[in-house]
Amino acid sequence: MSQRIKNALKNEVAQLKENGKSVGLAVVIVGDDPASRVYVNAKKKACEEIGIYSEEHALPGDTAEETLWDLIARLNGRADLDGILVQLPLPKQISEEAVINAIAPSKDVDAFHPVNVGKIMTGNFDFLPCTPAGVMALIAESGIEVEGKECVVVGRSNIVGKPMSMLLLHRHGTVTICHSRTRNLAEVTRRADILVVAAGRPEMITGDMIKDGAVVIDVGMNRLEDKKLAGDAHFESCARKAAAITPVPGGVGPMTIAMLMKNTVTSATLAYNAARGEV
Ligand code: GUN
Repeated sequence: MSQRIKNALKNEVAQLKENGKSVGLAVVIVGDDPASRVYVNAKKKACEEIGIYSEEHALPGDTAEETLWDLIARLNGRADLDGILVQLPLPKQISEEAVINAIAPSKDVDAFHPVNVGKIMTGNFDFLPCTPAGVMALIAESGIEVEGKECVVVGRSNIVGKPMSMLLLHRHGTVTICHSRTRNLAEVTRRADILVVAAGRPEMITGDMIKDGAVVIDVGMNRLEDKKLAGDAHFESCARKAAAITPVPGGVGPMTIAMLMKNTVTSATLAYNAARGEV
């Protein structure tokens, strides 16, 4: 599915280029978090694959907040860049909120800026956050109906859980959000027709916590002690009962990247239309 989306985007990028509009993404990474490095490399590779110009700004882990703000201000002003992505998490001395607020909303291809978050609440958005958008695309392309279904989201992060719930609500799901203080988690997850797990706790959802025929979407990406990657769902026990389940790795991850590419192309298209007076 992610490949299909990227192939379509490749054609759109080529079309924009024919019209004299190149597409560009700046990727900013601060420090040397190994997981962030893997994600940033995957994002740059996807850009290359579909013809998007990308440039990386790698800053040391002890970078001052002001230095990062200055960089973002410069990137905001560059007409050749349609998207700015600051890989999270950031080192302790830097406020993620302040950095997100510094990115021009029109270039915020993560859809983390409060302007874009607000637009998601009202349903009138340009960009959707990449992981929730990827989950919705997986659901839609699999022919799974959301309307009227019991949808349970485990996790309430700004990046996944909260926007995920809103997107399922837009599709007319009955949405419940669970988190670390939820009592009787299993009782709630067993009600789910569609269960999205984004809690960051390895294999916390076991087969006995889901109902027969549930759709399980695993956003978790955890490194186990033996260095293996594991999701937030215990794959074998859940797969025995689920109608559909996403693996980790190779499930939601590639869709997240495809959606980042989509947002970048959307931003470039909006910039191109705005420059031609077609707002
Ligand atoms: N860290 C974990 N997920 C994401 C994401 O989608 N975007 C950014 N910028 N950082 C992340």
